[in-house]
Amino acid sequence: MTKVMISTTIISVIVTSCNAQQKGSDNISLDQKIQNYLSLKKNSWTDYNVPYQDGQELEKLIVQNNCKSVLEIGTSSGHSTIWLAKAAAKTGGKVITIEIDKGRYEKAKSNFEAAGVAHLIEMMLGDAMQIIPTLNERFDFVFSDATWSTQPDEGYVIFFKLCEPKLIVGGLYTMHNVTDGYGDDGRFFKYLEKLGTYQTAIIKVSNNGISVSKKLK
Ligand SMILES: C[S@@+](CC[C@H](N)C(=O)[O-])C[C@H]1O[C@@H](n2cnc3c(N)ncnc32)[C@H](O)[C@@H]1O
Repeated sequence: MTKVMISTTIISVIVTSCNAQQKGSDNISLDQKIQNYLSLKKNSWTDYNVPYQDGQELEKLIVQNNCKSVLEIGTSSGHSTIWLAKAAAKTGGKVITIEIDKGRYEKAKSNFEAAGVAHLIEMMLGDAMQIIPTLNERFDFVFSDATWSTQPDEGYVIFFKLCEPKLIVGGLYTMHNVTDGYGDDGRFFKYLEKLGTYQTAIIKVSNNGISVSKKLK
């Protein structure tokens, strides 16, 4: 894994503080079932989905930090969501995921059933900008992956501002496409830096890059 510093004042941090406790023993067969599905579909995702290795990193982050309440913005056909759910099965958590496109939402639904993770996921169809303010949950892990519709405006900052009050202290706000030019244009990181209450690291196991920002207070 390559870690890339994104600014001199955003501190690279390896997130290990939440006392990971993998509850694998109860879920070995489910985990294997999900893994088999992910392996089978490895090179066949065509809906702007995260690469396989980024999915693996998302799973690791959730399990290592024992995160239980996961929010995803941008389901598409569900590749990343399946990795999030695979992790949630190990921590005893669940995933809420939001998608605006009906076709991709329906595709994701059948993928979740086929992967055996539907019971771990609450799917929401609609604009995350409208839906997030209505959520009552508090989250310890957010994955922001709603590329395009939010560009070139301050979409990534808006998503963050909507999620921020719902993210617990110690929680992780993660974002995809931070090193490939398809995601935020830098405004999100400038905003975070000014806020001064997050530590950010970049995980780069694919061209896309994932930022991991830990809420410090
Ligand atoms: C890059 S894809 C997500 C890929 C998915 N996370 C995966 O790896 O399988 C981005 C998705 O975000 C959705 N999206 C864009 N803007 C959105 C919004 N405002 N609310 C909900 N979904 C949105 C798009 O329709 C698209 O399916």
